[in-house]
Amino acid sequence: MNLREAAPRRDYLSVAPDCEELGRRAAHTIAETVHRRSDAVISLTTGHTMAGVYKRLGELCRAGTLDLGATRLISSEEYAGVGGGDLISLFGWLRRDLLDPCGVPPAAVLRLAGDAPDATAECRRFDAAIDGLGGIDLVVQSIGPNGHFGFNEPGSARDAPSRVVDLAASTHQSNSHYWPDGARVPERGLTMGVRATLRAKHVLLLASGAPKAEALARAVEGPIGEDVPCSLLRLATRLTILADAGAMERLRR
Ligand code: GLP
Repeated sequence: MNLREAAPRRDYLSVAPDCEELGRRAAHTIAETVHRRSDAVISLTTGHTMAGVYKRLGELCRAGTLDLGATRLISSEEYAGVGGGDLISLFGWLRRDLLDPCGVPPAAVLRLAGDAPDATAECRRFDAAIDGLGGIDLVVQSIGPNGHFGFNEPGSARDAPSRVVDLAASTHQSNSHYWPDGARVPERGLTMGVRATLRAKHVLLLASGAPKAEALARAVEGPIGEDVPCSLLRLATRLTILADAGAMERLRR
């Protein structure tokens, strides 16, 4: 298939009025996946956009309407050289925002150990473990300002495995806002690859706020290609994009 010829599909795009509603709707999609199959395999990311999603999932767990006890969760990226207990660990963030509030033991989550002595072997182990789970039912990702997802930066191939990557300068800069002043954000990361993402049964991509508007327009209306990794998600078996009004600003149609 010639990737450049694939026509933009718009039927998968859903608009939320604001970030809070976006979080509620994304949480609803996750909860529905779990209700359909309690041992569903679900891959999750971190970042500010996910905060509202985790807040809502925590509420559902506390209310007893959601139980993640049997769900097989995956944490899709980590900084290189950073252990799960480190102050700036992405897994630590997932633990605080979702696992602890929902009573999920951290050991039950498949993750990339950023501090593994051989990061490349760790990525291979991670991909093999995903295969061992029988693939992923739902991948939840959030678009980066340069069109990345996870740490799949521009230049990522559609069949890229999970791997160690150099973070783009803009990613490094945006990630530095997550952590207290003085925290040193690593320049490399381990990420679930494009290949495992595209093999998932369903990909949910979130986009919140005007800083994501240009990247979203390129991902949805531009050609499918490596320079905008989120555009590759249009090759997924099933893609849902959930965007708020700010992120929709640059879509032409
Ligand atoms: C983190 C994730 C990226 C994601 C980004 C979005 O950096 N590793 O995968 O693109 O968050 O961040 P935010 O929601 O804070 O804009």
